[in-house]
Amino acid sequence: MFEKDKNFYTDIYSFFILKKKTHKKKIENIYRLLRVDNTYKTTTYNRMFDINIKLRKYLKKYFSRKVMICDLGISSGQSTIELFFDLDGKNIKNVYGFDKQIYFKVYKIKKFIFLFSLKNDLLMVEYDKHCLRYRYFFIFKKLEKVLFYFLKIMKFKSINSNALLPNLNKVDKCKFFEQDIFNIEKKYQNLFDIVRVSNLLNYSYFSKAELKKAIYNINKISKRNSLILISKTLNKKNMGSFFIKKNGKLQLLEDYNGGSEVKKLMI
Ligand SMILES: C[S@@+](CC[C@H](N)C(=O)[O-])C[C@H]1O[C@@H](n2cnc3c(N)ncnc32)[C@H](O)[C@@H]1O
Repeated sequence: MFEKDKNFYTDIYSFFILKKKTHKKKIENIYRLLRVDNTYKTTTYNRMFDINIKLRKYLKKYFSRKVMICDLGISSGQSTIELFFDLDGKNIKNVYGFDKQIYFKVYKIKKFIFLFSLKNDLLMVEYDKHCLRYRYFFIFKKLEKVLFYFLKIMKFKSINSNALLPNLNKVDKCKFFEQDIFNIEKKYQNLFDIVRVSNLLNYSYFSKAELKKAIYNINKISKRNSLILISKTLNKKNMGSFFIKKNGKLQLLEDYNGGSEVKKLMI
């Protein structure tokens, strides 16, 4: 019925609901296929070690107390935990991981699996353990409200799950919250000493106006003299820019491997 391709094999029911252990490559494939608006939850293990170590040097230079860190756009949360350990957890009060999409509801109907956000946006459809792509997904996406209504009136039961890897709750200094970079709750304003955004603020995902709004919000949640790192991983190479917030404005500290593609919007 639907095209099957081993690249699109996900089996999200086993992973998110039955919580079966699976190997890292398969986990990376699942997140690579999970779509949130124009972005994907693509992430890989230990992808930011070198740039995290650079951030650790800045942390040591600028702070003698424990810091509050915000990691924005966290996917599975794995890269947030890696950030915590790479920065040496003892220098850290808390790391808050924010992502637009952390919690979801899963419906299983025969060979179909439907993954909905808590706001009833359709995030993924799987048929026979394969993620539906292109036109097949977009047909369901166009009908998402009708589909959701149908599932409700037919009294199909959903199961709650989330995108965080199970090992994350072992580190109690790391906390995860659903927050949209375009609409961050007021209580987080002026809270963070370090804000890190990796593989989210890209021209391929957002318009210039949207990127500016996101940067404005990053500025709002960061304290005076805070550090901000914006980076992107391209062909396994991390490129990013480090900034410091002085008198409400961001000043460039350093470009790493050529810097961030959005750095001109930051300063
Ligand atoms: C490509 S992943 C990056 C994951 C991780 N930072 C890394 O570099 O491995 C992008 C993440 O941003 C999240 N995201 C997309 N739009 C967002 C928004 N408006 N606000 C917050 N997070 C968002 C997605 O859900 C996804 O988890």
